[in-house]
Amino acid sequence: MLIRTIYVSRASSPMPLELKEILAVSRKNNPLLGIGGAMCFLDGVYLQFLEGEAVAVDALYQKIEKDPRHTDVKMLVHEPITQREYPKWSMALLTWNEETKAIFKMFNPGLENDAYAADPASVAALMRAWAGTNNWMTL
Ligand SMILES: Cc1cc2nc3c(=O)[nH]c(=O)nc-3n(C[C@H](O)[C@H](O)[C@H](O)COP(=O)(O)O)c2cc1C
Repeated sequence: MLIRTIYVSRASSPMPLELKEILAVSRKNNPLLGIGGAMCFLDGVYLQFLEGEAVAVDALYQKIEKDPRHTDVKMLVHEPITQREYPKWSMALLTWNEETKAIFKMFNPGLENDAYAADPASVAALMRAWAGTNNWMTL
């Protein structure tokens, strides 16, 4: 069964140099695990999207949850999907700029770029709206 999981977490250090390392390991491991995804990082908060076979995604999530480089890991979405939405992304990184911030605000009126407070009911649609823009670093 294919699923998607979306979670938010707080980086343990305010300027995580680890982001580069995390992206590198994700881009190495995820294709081998049949997992795809995307990630945003703003104001010390990660928002990560993972999709793939439930067994693989759940096992990776359990590992990520224990990673000391972040805390307060909060799952927003964990649900079956019929097909992958981002089959080409091992771990894409969203660039925050006026366009991506405006889209965030459209989905979360009244919130100032606080990914931690993103509405779980619309966060998959938010990712889709972001995905339709050119603000991604995929390599
Ligand atoms: C915010 C965050 C996101 C991460 N995302 C992934 C990921 O998508 N894929 C992955 O393999 N590791 C990811 N990691 C790193 C894992 O926690 C772990 O360090 C890595 O998979 C290496 O595990 P290993 O030492 O068991 O090989 C993430 C870590 C953090 C803090």
